[in-house]
Amino acid sequence: MRYFVSIGGASGSIYGIRLLQELAKMNHEVYLTISEGAKKILQHETDYTVAILSTKASVIYDNDDLCAGPASGSFPLDGMIVAPCSMKTLSAIANGFGDTLTSRAASCCLKEGRKVILVLRETPLDLPGITNMLVAKQSGAIILPAMPAFYHKPERIEDLVDFIVGKVFDQLGLQHSLYKRWK
Ligand SMILES: Cc1cc2nc3c(=O)[nH]c(=O)nc-3n(C[C@H](O)[C@H](O)[C@H](O)COP(=O)(O)O)c2cc1C
Repeated sequence: MRYFVSIGGASGSIYGIRLLQELAKMNHEVYLTISEGAKKILQHETDYTVAILSTKASVIYDNDDLCAGPASGSFPLDGMIVAPCSMKTLSAIANGFGDTLTSRAASCCLKEGRKVILVLRETPLDLPGITNMLVAKQSGAIILPAMPAFYHKPERIEDLVDFIVGKVFDQLGLQHSLYKRWK
């Protein structure tokens, strides 16, 4: 399968990193962008670099490259994931602003009826954020906040992260054992 992954400038770069690692392990074709804000947060929160992450993708694009393949609906994709997704990018997606490759690709995926998964991270939420979530959902996006559960008895931060990545995989219809299901 072919997925467009955007690592956005919200806290929680590790969600995007684990997602990339797991998609690459499963030999999916991944097209990647990392926003300028995300590059700074990545450096602050993790030991990963853009160079390391680019080894997990077929192509890495600048987030301001509106001539890149995913900026067109004719570019074949099976879906896209923004992880983590900032409230700014949520706003751009909900309102079809198309100012970055991420928001333009999301508009293209939505108009083509493809999956767009937004791993949002912000708390507490303001009214524009809540309204934008509603509008994005009504446009067909999947609102998947980075809100891990605890019923799988997490012991490490990685267990919490993998719960969210597992939830993304559930939405993509991909088999995984990233978290223990409730039985
Ligand atoms: C350390 C740091 C953490 C941030 N965390 C969040 C966050 O969790 N959620 C959010 O919506 N914005 C957060 N921001 C603000 C976004 O980075 C900012 O709104 C940016 O314009 C988002 O753009 P992007 O989605 O194109 O990356 C954070 C900024 C910094 C510097």
